[in-house]
Amino acid sequence: MSANQHTEKTNQSWGGRFSEPVDAFVARFTASVEFDQRLYRHDIMGSLAHAKMLTKVGVLAEDELKAIEEGLSAIQQEIEAGEFDWRVDLEDVHMNIEARLTERIGITGKKLHTGRSRNDQVATDIRLWLRDEIDLILAEITRLQQGLLELAEREADTIMPGFTHLQTAQPVTFGHHLLAWFEMLSRDHERLVDCRKRTNRMPLGSAALAGTTYPIDRSITCELLGFEAISGNSLDGVSDRDFAIEFCAAASLAMMHLSRFSEELVMWASAQFNFINLPDRFCTGSSIMPQKKNPDVPELVRGKSGRVFGALMGLLTLMKSQPLAYNKDNQEDKEPLFDAADTLRDSLRAFADMVPAIEPRREVMREAALRGFSTATDLADYLVGKGIPFRTCHDIVGRAVGYGVEQGKDLAEMSLDELRQFSDQIGDDVYQVLTLEGSVNARNHLGGTAPAQVRQAVSRGRELLATR
Ligand code: ARG
Repeated sequence: MSANQHTEKTNQSWGGRFSEPVDAFVARFTASVEFDQRLYRHDIMGSLAHAKMLTKVGVLAEDELKAIEEGLSAIQQEIEAGEFDWRVDLEDVHMNIEARLTERIGITGKKLHTGRSRNDQVATDIRLWLRDEIDLILAEITRLQQGLLELAEREADTIMPGFTHLQTAQPVTFGHHLLAWFEMLSRDHERLVDCRKRTNRMPLGSAALAGTTYPIDRSITCELLGFEAISGNSLDGVSDRDFAIEFCAAASLAMMHLSRFSEELVMWASAQFNFINLPDRFCTGSSIMPQKKNPDVPELVRGKSGRVFGALMGLLTLMKSQPLAYNKDNQEDKEPLFDAADTLRDSLRAFADMVPAIEPRREVMREAALRGFSTATDLADYLVGKGIPFRTCHDIVGRAVGYGVEQGKDLAEMSLDELRQFSDQIGDDVYQVLTLEGSVNARNHLGGTAPAQVRQAVSRGRELLATR
């Protein structure tokens, strides 16, 4: 067999030193094109910048650059029109595009890979891709936060029971409760903005692992691709995927928050709580029980959090103990990363659509807050005001609650005589503190549940969103 004959049967990009073709199953097993073709736009973007830089430093001629640019732009159109023939024997998105370029423009296509390796190419592509995904996710977080602010403002005076241990604790305003989610999402936003900085550093120019012998100018590609910085070590640049792990960690926290939010929506929409109605368009029915209206969207988001936590664990495990520099293990970074980004984006989108449409049942919430001795702490604080030490007040109110449980009466429903059995310090003025409004209005400090504070928090929230 002549050298020419056997390279025809082996991979055109690296078959030179091989004496037999790769086993058909192994070719499929090692290929990534089925999933990494998704990177095509960023791959082409990276190649265009690389070719421009090579031309500026005199490695490529102007007419060669022109041919490469026209070829790549035609290939992008082919891909977007669904006319591109993705070939598994060409392994991955990078070699598929390069081979097609050579088919289209001839020998110049083979020059594109000068001074570059698929190792720095793929490390660059994923960063460019993830940077765009983060931007889309940040926009969805902001949209969801806008919805929360709107609803919180509308419900600043609505009173519901606040819970600890899922037992009625103290009255809170529904607006205040909603703004707790706003705060969590603000931190999720911050984390992703921060992760974007470390994602936005350019490994291109690292080549396979050690850099390249060509007189490359990495500041040109950095500028063209809009990276914030250039990776300072070629071995690190091609191999580490910490930015992807960091993204999955931030995405996991965001999904964890959404799962808590989901859980409450599911409970509140149940007949037992009945605090809210979720519009029909966010629910589905049961094929057997005609009465059912299931809160599928929050249930699914709650369940999908598991996929994203899985991606985080998967990527950590993938990276753990890898020796420098690039290893094929890293090809496995893509599916979990893609899935985590898709899942988070879709979940946020579903919530951003659904939250402004939540219909609270204000009377039911109020009724629930009136039950369960939610103003017991207020009574204790009232007695502290009469000069009794807090621990003693706690005991007095505890006994009053015990009496209420026996009699089936809430504190506000007891007569003054009944209340005075537990302390003669209790006077007529006690009823003001036992009302729900009295209770929430009394918590009037930054971060408290008073309606006035909810309104202030809403305007602080609007200011924050305006800075983004
Ligand atoms: N498909 C590969 C990946 O996703 C591209 C880099 C391959 N590099 C190599 N030397 N085989 O990681």
